[in-house]
Amino acid sequence: MFAEDLLKGRVVLITGGGTGLGRSMALRFAGLGASEFLIGRREEPLRKTAEEIAARGGRAAFATADVRDLSAVEKAVDAAKDALGLPDTLVNNAAGNFLARTERLSANAFASVVDIVLKGTFHCTTALARRWIAAKAPGTVLNIVTTYAASGSGSGFVVPSACAKAGVLAMTRSLAVEWGRHRIRLNAIAPGPFPTEGAWSRVVAGKEWEDRMVARHPMGRFGRHEELADLAAFLIAPGSGYVNGECVTIDGGQWLRGAGQFNELVDLPDAAWDAMEAVRKARKAE
Ligand code: COA
Repeated sequence: MFAEDLLKGRVVLITGGGTGLGRSMALRFAGLGASEFLIGRREEPLRKTAEEIAARGGRAAFATADVRDLSAVEKAVDAAKDALGLPDTLVNNAAGNFLARTERLSANAFASVVDIVLKGTFHCTTALARRWIAAKAPGTVLNIVTTYAASGSGSGFVVPSACAKAGVLAMTRSLAVEWGRHRIRLNAIAPGPFPTEGAWSRVVAGKEWEDRMVARHPMGRFGRHEELADLAAFLIAPGSGYVNGECVTIDGGQWLRGAGQFNELVDLPDAAWDAMEAVRKARKAE
């Protein structure tokens, strides 16, 4: 899909880069020539992913940091600069989410998701942007949101995440304007269902529910990690330099299915369509 050296010379910092979609993006960007700096709470997955990148001939380093902790983020950014040079690209991928009935949520449960998703994105974005602005260097930020943020619908049963991701989208668009003059551009990706261990264990309510999600999906399948990683590579690549403040949905048409009043008719069997057609023709002939 891309020239092999599309991201040559770039330094990308990815939060939650040791596992799931963060890991997949890190591997893809490294394959396109970028150096990767991975941040996450647990050292083991970060080390493994960095080793995997190195084994494939790429450059990677990592630091443990909880994005909720601004001073830990600042330290990690300094460590990235020492190891690979100041990152020119940030991917805010780290997230927290779980299914819950909102009336049963504690204030701390709400706060922990908002702190990771919304405040964490603010911490990482400002930590890098301050350095870019001081150095008069350009920068690129890619925020991973969700379809229930991009569509504006929100979603029941994941209310802390819906609130936080809507905030991240507002931050993306606001800063795209505020920092355009500093040559910092910000975009977002709104993924639909992409299986990962972290998300699946928290937001898929069992095998039966998973089967139901596939059955209801317009394309009858979940997303593949490489599909999301390629979209991310496209958005951070220099050729996308005029794309700013945009949010690209990648969900195989999933959210739209819930939006159109008659979309459920995809489940109507051919026989029912044929019967309706026959009635219409009979009426016309009368
Ligand atoms: N339902 C309701 N409340 C929940 C919950 C659930 N499934 N999981 C956690 N909580 C509550 C806890 O009870 C606690 O509240 P309390 O102190 O009032 O009891 C609060 O959330 C914080 O939980 P804790 O486990 O201490 O927080 P943490 O900082 O270790 O973890 C989470 C943060 C809760 C977001 C955790 O799910 C996480 O680490 N997620 C990261 C990975 C992830 O979510 N990936 C999927 C992204 S799609």
